[in-house]
Amino acid sequence: MSNLTVGLDLGTTKVCACAGRKTKEGQIEVVGVGMSPCSGLHHGIVSNVNTVVSAIELALSKVELVVGQGIKSVVVGMAGKSAKGESSLGTIAISKGREITKQDVNRVIETAKAISLAAGTEILHSLPQGYKLDGQAGIEDPSGMSGIKLECDVYIITASQTVIRNLTRCVQKSGFEPTGSPVLGLLAASYSVLSSDEKKLGVCLIDIGGDTTDMGIFIDGNLHCTSSLPVGGDHITTDISVGLRTSFTEAEKIKISAGSCLASLVEEGDTVNVPSLGDGKLQSFPGYAIAGIIEERMEEIFLLLKEELKGFKGLKAGVVLTGGGALLTGMAELGQQVFNMPARIGRPMGLTGLAETVDSPIYAVATGLLVYGIKNQARHLPANPISKIGRGMKNFFSDLFE
Ligand SMILES: Nc1ncnc2c1ncn2[C@@H]1O[C@H](COP(=O)(O)OP(=O)(O)OP(=O)(O)O)[C@@H](O)[C@H]1O
Ligand SMILES: [Mg+2]
Repeated sequence: MSNLTVGLDLGTTKVCACAGRKTKEGQIEVVGVGMSPCSGLHHGIVSNVNTVVSAIELALSKVELVVGQGIKSVVVGMAGKSAKGESSLGTIAISKGREITKQDVNRVIETAKAISLAAGTEILHSLPQGYKLDGQAGIEDPSGMSGIKLECDVYIITASQTVIRNLTRCVQKSGFEPTGSPVLGLLAASYSVLSSDEKKLGVCLIDIGGDTTDMGIFIDGNLHCTSSLPVGGDHITTDISVGLRTSFTEAEKIKISAGSCLASLVEEGDTVNVPSLGDGKLQSFPGYAIAGIIEERMEEIFLLLKEELKGFKGLKAGVVLTGGGALLTGMAELGQQVFNMPARIGRPMGLTGLAETVDSPIYAVATGLLVYGIKNQARHLPANPISKIGRGMKNFFSDLFE
């Protein structure tokens, strides 16, 4: 099974790898998924190389085992906390009468990229927002047209070189090679969970991770604005742990098994037994009280994001929520209430193969990196000859999956 592309989502709570390929019919087939818990990153920044390296090795060896071949290169995702976006206008002159070529289009984008970069940062993405020809706006692709002055508004995302270097180092130390610079996780997720109609109509994508919540606004099909809050699902767990005086581990279990974002969704009389800190004595708490703790924190996060949305009128497709945090019961309902617009949970769409395995908002970034890799990089490197799995095992799996 050659020609594999592999997305690698490096999160605060887990590392997730997703392998796939483009079928003859043009569909994207997911052929392998591997996840490993990881606590070596904070706010998208490497805090412990060895922990991250072990998690990458484990997640990717799981994928190698399923696909029956070694993996060499991976499309690496990056959290939004250390990335920054800004708009820049590029302008070029076209000699009279000449047809605008692809080179001209590249040239106008290059001029927009000539911004003064903050020390220690580099450009991660330059996303054209639309072109203007001799003052006329609304041009999707000026190639083949004629005019004198070509302008392009480009949304440029920059990121810290140190953060990029350390993410790259972890991937390399694990025995893999990034296909290029990291990809902003939120941008990647938009490839797997948003429809092109939603992006055209105007949509806000929110990824609720472990210790970050990233947001991106898509208008007229393009990413227009990004922001990131240093708060995520783990803060809810901490709130539960403090509120119920129990350990973080117990609080996480309670959040996942009985948590809800809306107290109104909890059945009357529902109670949860919680082991107390220290003596482990069980104490009973009403479900609505736990939901109240979650709702308060989640509402606070949404209100902070709503502030950022103020300048954006007419996000007709509303809000799409991804990340593990979006798995909480009532998340879409709370989003709808706070943002006062339609809200849905974003699950990977349009995939074949192991589509059911990745049918969760927690896989939005990993599957998005896979789709992004196939669509944008189209760099299918050969299988790694030094696989982490034994040869016999490899042959067995190749026979099984070819
Ligand atoms: N079933 C569930 N119900 C509620 N919350 C969940 C569930 N599963 C995971 N979570 C929460 O999702 C969060 C982790 O989400 P995710 O895996 O998207 O984060 P990450 O990618 O590791 O972190 P980040 O994006 O911040 O770097 C944790 O706070 C976890 O408690
Ligand atoms: Mg994440």
